[in-house]
Amino acid sequence: MPDLLFSVDDEVVIITGVSGQLGHQYALAFLQRGARVCGLDLVHSEGAHKLAEQYPDHFFFHQCNVSQSDSLTGALVTMRSIFGEPTVLINNAAIDSPPDAPLEETGPFEEYPDDSWDRVMDINAKGVYLACKVFGSAMAVNRRGSIINISSIYGLVSPDQSIYDYRRQRGEVFYKPVAYAVSKSALLNLTRYLSTYWARSGVRVNTLVLAGVENGQDPEFLKAYCKRMPVGRMATEVEYNGAVLFLASSASAYMTGAQLVIDGGWTAI
Ligand SMILES: NC(=O)c1ccc[n+]([C@@H]2O[C@H](COP(=O)([O-])OP(=O)(O)OC[C@H]3O[C@@H](n4cnc5c(N)ncnc54)[C@H](O)[C@@H]3O)[C@@H](O)[C@H]2O)c1
Repeated sequence: MPDLLFSVDDEVVIITGVSGQLGHQYALAFLQRGARVCGLDLVHSEGAHKLAEQYPDHFFFHQCNVSQSDSLTGALVTMRSIFGEPTVLINNAAIDSPPDAPLEETGPFEEYPDDSWDRVMDINAKGVYLACKVFGSAMAVNRRGSIINISSIYGLVSPDQSIYDYRRQRGEVFYKPVAYAVSKSALLNLTRYLSTYWARSGVRVNTLVLAGVENGQDPEFLKAYCKRMPVGRMATEVEYNGAVLFLASSASAYMTGAQLVIDGGWTAI
């Protein structure tokens, strides 16, 4: 008898930001376990093309902007015609200020550009709200669904600005900006709100809180980050797969409105 506790082969999974580093890994983890996956992103990456080649009956990509309601509704219509009703939604698409962001974006808080705030909130907070509205509402009608909102340690606690001292020592003015952190903490209460709203409609809503992932970062950044990190290293890109599979499967059937923190101990200090 197969053990169905963690099984996901009956799930129809939507992953936003599927062309990014972690979205690709989540898609692979579900596909390897027999789920059907609809990947959404602004960009149709080489990785997404490969997934479609490798899993032609189980994966398709749909170009979509999560901050536009019509774009999400279009994705739902396409998905229904290919795989049927969605049962899992991973709200993974997001933007952050990259290490080489324009100077004004990583300058002092007092000078942070208001349009950068709007751009980040539009994708990271409003995009998740809209995706929940479009896909979560369909799940509630079907009385079955699990929504996983991807947050960050910087949504739970403030960025530790001392990690970036190495940049200041080089003569740069650098602060980890405000909007990303605020957008990621907004997800914690969107999760709580929707978890109670849909609690009796068969839709569970949880937040997965992540710490930083290895991605060829500046060695000086790595040194400072890993010194602050209790386990002494960043996560690898596959180390959150177990958590998304758990949150999508019946192993977490009684879990809703919660946050699962997988952060190498960062917030334990
Ligand atoms: N990588 C990390 O260190 C880390 C740490 C903590 C939390 N997270 C969170 O994990 C998630 C994935 O991170 P990642 O490192 O894989 O990011 P990534 O930048 O590699 O991927 C994000 C993807 O989202 C897509 N995207 C951006 N705007 C979009 C829009 N409007 N509509 C549709 N797609 C859009 C991008 O095209 C990109 O493919 C994010 O929510 C991020 O905040 C990442």
